[in-house]
Amino acid sequence: MYRCPVCYQKLFFDNNVYRCINNHNYDISSKGYVNLLLANQKHSINPGDSKEMILSRVNFLKLDYYSFLRETILNTILKYFLNNNLLFADLACGEGYYTNYLHSQLSLKKNVITYGIDISKYAIIEACKKKKEFHLENINYCVGNLMNLPFLDQSFDCLLNCFALFEQKEFLRVLKDKGLFIRILPDTYHLYELKKYLYDNVILNETKEKNVLGLKLLDEIHIHQDIFLKNYQEIYNLFTMTPYYYKSKKESIDKLAKLKSLQVRADFILLIYQKCL
Ligand SMILES: C[S@@+](CC[C@H](N)C(=O)[O-])C[C@H]1O[C@@H](n2cnc3c(N)ncnc32)[C@H](O)[C@@H]1O
Ligand SMILES: [Zn+2]
Repeated sequence: MYRCPVCYQKLFFDNNVYRCINNHNYDISSKGYVNLLLANQKHSINPGDSKEMILSRVNFLKLDYYSFLRETILNTILKYFLNNNLLFADLACGEGYYTNYLHSQLSLKKNVITYGIDISKYAIIEACKKKKEFHLENINYCVGNLMNLPFLDQSFDCLLNCFALFEQKEFLRVLKDKGLFIRILPDTYHLYELKKYLYDNVILNETKEKNVLGLKLLDEIHIHQDIFLKNYQEIYNLFTMTPYYYKSKKESIDKLAKLKSLQVRADFILLIYQKCL
């Protein structure tokens, strides 16, 4: 499914190396991923989420407070994708919390090949670690940019885009006709109680534009759960994986540090689309 980020020709895999007909080549790293992000496509040395943010996310997600979202995504794919052979990609997969789980569960029912891509090397390294730990096969992780996906046209039956940048033209290019596209966004009250601690005036989330040219909206699913964070470390890990981590003033963060526990609402919207011509 990969295409060369330099000349856009198909990449062939041989002896741990991806190579195109023009002899551009990309090794699988010792950690198990391929880097398809060219130096001139980077805005910084280590683009995407930092090591600290990734570790916070790993530590938060492993507590499985968001497992109900994972389950809903799985059931949605199984409901809408009925064929036996599935080519699936998680676009901005982060540290693979959704990718690895979805792949392992889908593999029980289908022949699935999964691709996970993220611009953060640290995220992809964590995703590969989990892939190894759970002995998962047929998952391919790469470092790459959503704005210029290193995949061939019409490669995938199903794409997932979870709390991430939305790049309509590229996503449509790599999705097969009639393919399924699942977008996850924070719903109105997502992390409302956390925001109340940080800001005097809380702005509720709005899902601005649901209509996307080239995609037909099949369904819209709203799910939520109140989660109970047991200590400051859990609160901090959640805080660090949100955009508020960048946006909050020092006083607000200090205020948060006084908290010993917090009940907070996780509120998600799943938008299910099908590619139409
Ligand atoms: C909020 S996180 C979501 C990660 C994962 N989908 C999840 O829900 O746990 C957003 C991710 O997008 C990645 N990212 C940001 N800009 C990107 C880009 N241009 N191309 C690929 N990934 C990008 C970040 O590194 C980060 O891992
Ligand atoms: Zn090439």
